[in-house]
Amino acid sequence: MLSFILLVILVVCFCLHKTKGILWGRNRKDDEPPIVPGHPIWGNGQQFNNDSIKFILGAQKKLGDIFSIRMLHYFMTVIADPHCFDAFSKERSFDFEPIQEQVNGNIFGFKIPEANRMRKFVGKTTRGSAVPRNLHAFSMLLEESYSTLEHESSFGEWNTVSLDRLANQTLFKTIFNSVFGEDKESTSFNYELFHKHLQVFHKYFSYLWIGLPHWMFPEATKAVEQLFNQPTPSEFMKSDCTSEYLKAAIEFLQSYNLSDKEIKCHNLVFLHINVNTFKIATWCLYQLMSHKAAMSSVRAEIENLVEANKEMQQSEDNVVTISAKEIENLETLDSLVMETFRMSSGVFMVRHNQEDTNFTVTSTGQTYRIRAGDKVMMYPPAIHKDPEIYENPEEFQYDRFIGKTFYKNGKALKTPVLPFGSICPGRRIALLQTKWYIVSMLYKFDLELLEGESCDFDTTYPGHEIVPATNDVQIRFRHRESSTKIQVTQQC
Ligand code: HEM
Repeated sequence: MLSFILLVILVVCFCLHKTKGILWGRNRKDDEPPIVPGHPIWGNGQQFNNDSIKFILGAQKKLGDIFSIRMLHYFMTVIADPHCFDAFSKERSFDFEPIQEQVNGNIFGFKIPEANRMRKFVGKTTRGSAVPRNLHAFSMLLEESYSTLEHESSFGEWNTVSLDRLANQTLFKTIFNSVFGEDKESTSFNYELFHKHLQVFHKYFSYLWIGLPHWMFPEATKAVEQLFNQPTPSEFMKSDCTSEYLKAAIEFLQSYNLSDKEIKCHNLVFLHINVNTFKIATWCLYQLMSHKAAMSSVRAEIENLVEANKEMQQSEDNVVTISAKEIENLETLDSLVMETFRMSSGVFMVRHNQEDTNFTVTSTGQTYRIRAGDKVMMYPPAIHKDPEIYENPEEFQYDRFIGKTFYKNGKALKTPVLPFGSICPGRRIALLQTKWYIVSMLYKFDLELLEGESCDFDTTYPGHEIVPATNDVQIRFRHRESSTKIQVTQQC
């Protein structure tokens, strides 16, 4: 009997190996990318999990700019040559839709109807003339959050608080209100509670993303249930406070007959996406406080701009306006934000390969066949830490990007930092919101880390667009005296 069972197991294993390559990998054909050796059952999952950047850069050194890895039952071809970014983005058989369906379905139990139309719809609200309008509305809400802070803290004196708390009271509140409209502090629908529940839920995000069942993570399941405590779509539509974006999105989704629960899922996905802006801006503040030269250079650049505009505008009410373009032209601030992205981006650019595809590696000109059904990935965090591209890649250098060109394989890189992948429609607005948050915080407040406080990147969270911190830090802030108020214009 025992030998019969063993025989059956052997036959099943053999079939799995032959048909899917699930056990012991697959038989590589000559025109396919090399395969990174891994565990007979788990493949390369453990190596990737231990230190994804070291693993990918190590494999690239040994095998070249393209190779395949196996994550348990599926194969993923890693395109490690950063010059392939355009070719990767334009390849029609590399499809993002199944990946998006997997994330939205596994995490939120939600499927976007007509994803292409939804993408166009989001694009309309985050690009072109919508950008300055959006940024202006965002800056007004941010200003309101600062007034609340002024009431709660002593003017001109140092106030101690945790960085997460300060960013929550200002930026998260603003993001929450710009997504939903004003929060109702007296009910369970308010920014403080949502921030708390999202933090719990994000701890388990990567596990849910890959499809592990929700019951394995009761804390996350409870947090998600709390996040469904939102007004119904019709309540949102009736309220004068609801944001312009949300009203338009609800109308769009209702036209596809989505249920109230599905629309609430959409709202959560949208908030979750916007939380990336919160995370990167909080990292920027941390880096500014940790690097005194960065703080004084960025502040000087902001003050110079305010002074120049003040002289030009000669406003009687001491309000100086700043345009989106002027914010984008602050090159020290831009370099600081890029360097913060370089250090803290955890993004995977993953696609599903729809059909057998011949892909040419840009740097070498060599063509490889990638099998239909495999996943294909570019992994910006490894590019961001490549010592051939960046000198001392582990060191934070706020001015690294000012007037510099970066090279790989002897050729200049068009886009050396890739935290938004290739398809994020929120790139410009997210960058502007992040920068305006820094500009206004530094103009209004002195900010310092308390003695001995520090944190690091928590690398146990692969798949997060922005890697979270290992711990919160204590800081102090003080209102700065100024008779001038700064505001964003509604023009480009
Ligand atoms: C710091 C902030 C942000 C980061 C780091 C970020 C990053 C990303 C990344 C990495 C992707 C996948 C790209 C790829 O695989 O090529 C993505 C997709 C997307 N992002 Fe963002 N994002 C941010 C802010 C935003 C904002 C503010 C919005 C909307 C207002 C937004 C809307 C979207 C949408 C709708 C997609 C899916 C696109 C599609 O289906 O084609 N993102 N984002």
